[in-house]
Amino acid sequence: MQRYDVAIIGAGPGGYVAAIRCAQLGLSTICIDNMRDQNGDPSLGGVCLNVGCIPSKALLDSSEQFYSAKHHLTDHGVKCSGVELDLATMMARKNNIVKTLTGGIETLFMKNKVTWMHGLGRLIANNQVEVVLEDNSTKVVGAVNIIIATGSTPTAHEDIVVDGDRIVDSTGALAFDEVPKRLAVIGGGVIGLELGSVWSRLGSKVVILNRGKKLLSRIEQTVAKEAHRLLQKQGVDIRLGATIKEVKVTKKQVAVVYKDEEGEQKLQVDRVLVATGRQPNTAGLNAEAVGLNIDEKGYIEVDEHCHTNLPNVYAVGDVVRGPMLAHKASEEGVSVAEQIAGQSGHVNYQTIPWVIYTSPEIAWVGKTSQQLEDEGVDFREGVFPFKANGRAHAMNETDGMVKILSDAKYDRILGVHILGPHASELIAEVVVAMEFNASAEDIARTVHAHPTLSEAMHEAALAVDKRTIHI
Ligand code: FAD
Ligand code: NAI
Repeated sequence: MQRYDVAIIGAGPGGYVAAIRCAQLGLSTICIDNMRDQNGDPSLGGVCLNVGCIPSKALLDSSEQFYSAKHHLTDHGVKCSGVELDLATMMARKNNIVKTLTGGIETLFMKNKVTWMHGLGRLIANNQVEVVLEDNSTKVVGAVNIIIATGSTPTAHEDIVVDGDRIVDSTGALAFDEVPKRLAVIGGGVIGLELGSVWSRLGSKVVILNRGKKLLSRIEQTVAKEAHRLLQKQGVDIRLGATIKEVKVTKKQVAVVYKDEEGEQKLQVDRVLVATGRQPNTAGLNAEAVGLNIDEKGYIEVDEHCHTNLPNVYAVGDVVRGPMLAHKASEEGVSVAEQIAGQSGHVNYQTIPWVIYTSPEIAWVGKTSQQLEDEGVDFREGVFPFKANGRAHAMNETDGMVKILSDAKYDRILGVHILGPHASELIAEVVVAMEFNASAEDIARTVHAHPTLSEAMHEAALAVDKRTIHI
């Protein structure tokens, strides 16, 4: 049996990044993963690269190009006629991007001398991992330290059978071979809004059925309400307070029965996307036998340094508490690798940015005003709309705003919420600022290039002190 300094189960952004960092720090490292690509070949990168962040963003961009060519370019004085969708090419482009990036991780593993094994790993006694290989034989790997990074899968429902054809989860909705005329999306969360927008832009009549009575109830409500309005304006039909009663495949369609405030409602659609959350992958880990603590929701219990209750066994990413985000998984992976190497790894959970890739994008970091009110924190807010930003006008993308919340007494930035063009990129400035405990005044006194979208951030910071220039 070969023995390593570190064995990692899972090669998503948590596991593969941990593996590379361990190897950089001189630790002999093996990464065990069971993901396969569309052709059935082993593929590194986990959900994020294979069926998550990367393919979804590839389709978001492609669908935006299509929508823009059809609806927006004329505003710029660019006449386009005969704009047609070539879905096969769009999907092939997405698949190529996935292949390039997953192959890139293989190269990084080679460069950093990380050993990679394709198979299903489970914990056995004495810090060993038993791996079921392709031919069903098993191999035992010994390690001084183990990092579990097995990620998550879509939440299963007793009453909705995902058949991968007419009723799909996010993986299926990233690979439709034709644009469904009518698409019902069950769940108005991050996946529902992102993939719902993609298919809406490509021509589907999209109906989002959300159980909650508010869309995006946990984010800053000014942003959530405006995003709701804009999505409806784009043609996405959002129905709230919907309890699903039945989802049944008929000969040619899918019949969805749901109940809302007005009673029982029926929908006939061509396809259904189920996007009602994700659950951690702990089922096959043999946790109970080795005494690994799992909480009541299925997450591996860890402390703030990602230590499990077992000595030298760590867990990172979607399989532990906290947001299910690729960058959170990766930072935890780095932190654990550094702790194993005797350094002091650390993740600042207060400054993890979130992005929802709708159009316009939604991005935020830190607390919402609702949270601050609930906590009794005295705060000030500054809001600046993109309709008063020169670059946004030049781009013809003037919807949305930047909102900065800062401590009323010390002016320390407590939260920033953006709805607008390139919000995903704009948020980085304030994440850095918050890492340095900056005040809104610090942003207000920082020179921002003109004309840029970042000037909206500058003006929102000025607005905290009621001294905007352009509004
Ligand atoms: P995963 O990426 O889930 O990787 C876990 C790996 O472990 C997988 O390869 C799995 O096959 C393997 N595995 C599981 N069990 C075993 C076992 N027993 N033995 C061997 N291998 C095993 N996040 C963002 O930050 N930004 C986005 O834009 C974004 N978009 C998303 C879009 C979609 C459609 C989805 C579904 C998710 C998206 N996410 C996004 C979330 C992001 O993908 C996850 O947070 C991230 O992948 C978690 O990383 P991880 O390493 O914890 O796990
Ligand atoms: P989610 O938790 O974001 O949203 C689920 C939604 O479904 C909620 O609005 C909830 O009210 C609703 N819901 C739950 N059960 C329902 C039911 N039975 N009927 C109708 N509605 C129901 O989950 P989602 O969208 O599946 O995404 C999972 C996670 O993946 C996200 O929370 C996020 O962590 C990650 N992700 C991140 C992305 C990003 O960073 N841009 C993109 C996509 C996913």
